[in-house]
Amino acid sequence: MSLLIKNGEIVTPDARYVADVLCEGETIARIAPNLEAPAGTEVIDAAGKYVFPGFIDPHTHVYLPFMGTYARDTYETASKAALVGGTTTFFDMCCPSRAEEPMAGFETWTAQSAGKSACDYSFHMGVTKFDANSEAQLREIVASGVRSFKIFLAYKGALGIDDRELYHTLKLAKELGVIVCAHCENETLVAERQKELIAGGITGPEGHYLSRPPEVEAEGVHHFLTFAELAGASVYIVHLSCVEALREAVAARLRGVDVAVETLIQYLVLDRAYAERGGFEASKYVMSPPLRDAGNQEVLWQGLRSGLVQTVATDHAPFDFESQKTMGKDDFTRIPNGIPSIEERMNLLYTHGVCEGRLDLQTFVAVGSTNAAKKFGLFPRKGAIQPGADADLVVYDPSYRGVLSKATQTQAVDYNAFEGWKIKGRPGVVTVRGEVAVRDGAFVGTAGRGQFLKRA
Ligand code: URP
Ligand code: ZN
Ligand code: ZN
Repeated sequence: MSLLIKNGEIVTPDARYVADVLCEGETIARIAPNLEAPAGTEVIDAAGKYVFPGFIDPHTHVYLPFMGTYARDTYETASKAALVGGTTTFFDMCCPSRAEEPMAGFETWTAQSAGKSACDYSFHMGVTKFDANSEAQLREIVASGVRSFKIFLAYKGALGIDDRELYHTLKLAKELGVIVCAHCENETLVAERQKELIAGGITGPEGHYLSRPPEVEAEGVHHFLTFAELAGASVYIVHLSCVEALREAVAARLRGVDVAVETLIQYLVLDRAYAERGGFEASKYVMSPPLRDAGNQEVLWQGLRSGLVQTVATDHAPFDFESQKTMGKDDFTRIPNGIPSIEERMNLLYTHGVCEGRLDLQTFVAVGSTNAAKKFGLFPRKGAIQPGADADLVVYDPSYRGVLSKATQTQAVDYNAFEGWKIKGRPGVVTVRGEVAVRDGAFVGTAGRGQFLKRA
């Protein structure tokens, strides 16, 4: 099976040029102008379009038992939605509860995902407790190709770990050469403020925002990075939302801490006003950390441009509005945290980043694909357009104009957080290891073709 993508403008963080890309089997075979199509090759005309490496979402929750319920997508529905949006690889958080052993959790996530995804994926292994038993199992999980941990400073009693566990997780990561991703919010401050707000009669979704002001996140980042510094570990801050937290990350980097920073598409394009919408609409925008004042957005865009922020993820965590967000109708602490965005991430980043002059095309590719591949051990198999790389490609049509809506989305959730938003550009064709998975914006690939990516 071969595929020739002709006359597109290839864009990677290092280069922009017009050429043809010949894919043979699952990988890229040749890149040059005016390539001949071998007999039987499918030819895709990409004139006037961009050819990007498949995008990588470094932070999703496809299978997620959380706050008394489960995220809505399956690996089949989420991967199809990812592909329609140009994402060809995602990293799902494997998050066992504290009551579970890590290996049991790893086996559950493996069973949930095996044979279901239409695109390739990997895991970050959640460390939700740390003792001699779990340490031995974590070593085995790392040996099987999961080379990143995820810890939570938030979600007291459920997923969060204490400081002793944090320190030893970081030391183990350092020993094994594993990167530690962290959700940074001070869980004690959150828990105490939640109690105060409820006692004061604030039970609606706005209480979520009020319980987690920027200081709560900044303290979490400072706390985590102090531990990382002393343990000598390489770390990655997930879903950073505000200037106060970014300052802490930059200060740590200046001290020599090996820290990378991720923000989310929702923090770049949505602000606190969405978290204050009436009629319980705000619950659709309940996520942790919460949406911030609009002033933070320009700082995050500047962070992407200057390299202080390396990746844009989704933290895709889809909970239905009607039956799940409403679990917290009388108590904001019971609203399942999270927002769906695996399908919209790159179209929003293109529309609001590239088209608005906030990001150049090469930075767009870096923060949407290549940086994550490099950070998490997939480069140059993923995140690159070069001979030998997996033929995960996005032929992006910048002339497309459309509107985001629940009515037309692929992800399995009963609302779209960006309902009615206009987009400029979309992936016309998307390939997964040489097979066309999206044509004219619709999924045409094979569920179950996606592979679990073992990382070296
Ligand atoms: O609100 C969020 N972010 N939900 C998903 C779980 C997490 O914290 O990453
Ligand atoms: Zn989180
Ligand atoms: Zn998350």
